[in-house]
Amino acid sequence: VKIIYVEPGGNERAVDVAEGYSVMEGAVSNGVKGIVAECGGACSCATCHAYLDEAWLDLVGPAEGDEADMLEFAHEPRANSRLTCQIEVTEALDGLRVTIPDAQA
Ligand code: FES
Repeated sequence: VKIIYVEPGGNERAVDVAEGYSVMEGAVSNGVKGIVAECGGACSCATCHAYLDEAWLDLVGPAEGDEADMLEFAHEPRANSRLTCQIEVTEALDGLRVTIPDAQA
């Protein structure tokens, strides 16, 4: 499944991520800049924060519950902010594009 990461500064990286992994794991295992994932995917650090492209908002959905609470600690959260460790990669997400805030560089 192709996931497109826009790194801080605007460099675009298209990465193949296997189904069942999280968007965060796909970033970390491919050295995408700006996704640190200090907590290892436990939804408790906000260092895997990224903005969803508008076109994907309906399909992927907004952050809810613990994730929404944790996003308050992220750099410059917006309505389309998600913690990428909470997004599971499925075939339906092929071409998903997420942008990592410049402040997370
Ligand atoms: Fe820590 Fe996602 S990796 S909140």
